[in-house]
Amino acid sequence: MDTLITNTWYAVERSANLKARPTTVERLGARYVLWRTDGGVHAAPAQCPHRGANLGDGTVRNGCLTCPYHGIEFATDGTAVHRPAQGNEARVPAKANLNTIPALDAHGYVWIWHGDDPPTAGPEWFTDDDPRVIVGADQIWDVHYSRFMESALDFHHVPFVHGRYTPGAGQQITDIELDDQGTRMAMSASLTNQKGRSLAVAGEVIMPCSLKVTIGSTTFVAVGTPVNEHRTWVAANYHPSYTARIPGIRWVEAWLAMFVDFKLFQRQDRAIFEALDDGPSPLEHMALMPADRGAALWIRRWRELAAQSPGDAAATPPDSITSETPVALDLNEVPA
Ligand code: FES
Ligand SMILES: [Fe+2]
Repeated sequence: MDTLITNTWYAVERSANLKARPTTVERLGARYVLWRTDGGVHAAPAQCPHRGANLGDGTVRNGCLTCPYHGIEFATDGTAVHRPAQGNEARVPAKANLNTIPALDAHGYVWIWHGDDPPTAGPEWFTDDDPRVIVGADQIWDVHYSRFMESALDFHHVPFVHGRYTPGAGQQITDIELDDQGTRMAMSASLTNQKGRSLAVAGEVIMPCSLKVTIGSTTFVAVGTPVNEHRTWVAANYHPSYTARIPGIRWVEAWLAMFVDFKLFQRQDRAIFEALDDGPSPLEHMALMPADRGAALWIRRWRELAAQSPGDAAATPPDSITSETPVALDLNEVPA
């Protein structure tokens, strides 16, 4: 993929979806096998080095990932430890090994490291998270991931897209506060109606693909990881600490939050996103207004970081994010 930020962690699967069997996911423009052992979660390109079988169709046996085609067994470091056809004593050449990728299980997601630098200890995350009870849902949307992510700091769509479920949301946005912390940015605001009543809204985004949004008393976290340049894996996890606390029914709280947000709100957002033009926002051609400051800040930061990233096989970034292309949006040009 051309538009990836490198040397960072990407969430690629919900933890709950990776059970005893390996699985194959398409993310970041490639296919990866993920598997779980007593030692944690592991990741590698999905194709077997022998003759290309999909390792996600294999099994985990004796702590090894086992290919479904000819049964080669891979240790968690990728070493091909056994080729059944050659007998137990046969030496296995290094060429048969799997190139594993750093992976970890955190915050309700499986993450892989994308980049050549040594991985950091783990992904940045939101400070008040409580992952003891998680109910989640995920889908593939036909939208460029940057479009999904920029929307986490866009609130003036709420009364128009989600008005049926947010009757308290006014159309005018006031009290905009923007906090730029580099790879982490946040925006809060009020959606005020003609009677002066307001609904508080807030969003926080951690580069590259994590977001947390609060509308009134409902908060959710989600990731928007690219499947490829055209599609995005949208995966939300709902925690009871993000909902109204009702003692004793934490699962019900989390499930209700999932239902309201993912089944109602996000379905409405998806319809808007999938009707957009393909690719990232053509920022220079957009008639921005003050309410767009959060989204504009995200796009600008994403462009800066993506342009600094060599990408897979030194892929050339598209015109919209080359380093020669000025990062045209000066937030000072967007009136406060
Ligand atoms: S293709 Fe995997 S063992 Fe042959
Ligand atoms: Fe929305």
